[in-house]
Amino acid sequence: MTAVRPEPLITTEAIAARVGEIAAEIDRDYAGEEEILILGVLRGAYMFLADLSRRLTVPRRVDFIALSSYDKANSTGSVRLIMDTRVSLAGRHVLIVEDILDSGRTLAYLLRLFGARGPASLKTCVLVRKPNPEVLVEVDYLGFDIPDEWVVGYGLDYDDRYRALPYIGTLDPEAVEAATRGGTAAGGGG
Ligand code: IMP
Ligand code: MG
Repeated sequence: MTAVRPEPLITTEAIAARVGEIAAEIDRDYAGEEEILILGVLRGAYMFLADLSRRLTVPRRVDFIALSSYDKANSTGSVRLIMDTRVSLAGRHVLIVEDILDSGRTLAYLLRLFGARGPASLKTCVLVRKPNPEVLVEVDYLGFDIPDEWVVGYGLDYDDRYRALPYIGTLDPEAVEAATRGGTAAGGGG
């Protein structure tokens, strides 16, 4: 049983085309730099980061961080780092790659945290952005603006499901309710 609506919100082809455009923009902006550090936020950004990092030509290193689970139902507004980078950020050109910007709290937290570590530069790259952030965060590279709906696929999950869909889809709320009756309906981690 699936709760994903059959029509993609963003098709595989549209994602691939946009990822190529973003990669070209990043290549242009960092041209001449010795190296950049692409920092993926687990788990949601894994697919976006895999595709984006392959399309880049600027010398790059890839690292990951993980944050505490995002629980829509009892969000306290707190975000916590549960896995840090392996390399030091000092003096590096750091590009944070996130799957989605919703309230903006996650990216605001990461910018504050990593901004204090002395990077040569710190920018953000976000695949999709919802319309009503609580905290205003500058997004340097954006894939798509989307409506305020729960989206899944291409790394994004609902209760840890649907991450591996090759496109971005929306959930049918009635089907979600039927599928999760008796279980937790939290948003899922990362
Ligand atoms: P923010 O801190 O509210 O901007 O939340 C960002 C995080 O919430 C993302 O990294 C996702 O893990 C999660 N999230 C928010 N909206 C969605 C959605 O529509 N689908 C899947 N995950 C979401
Ligand atoms: Mg995430």
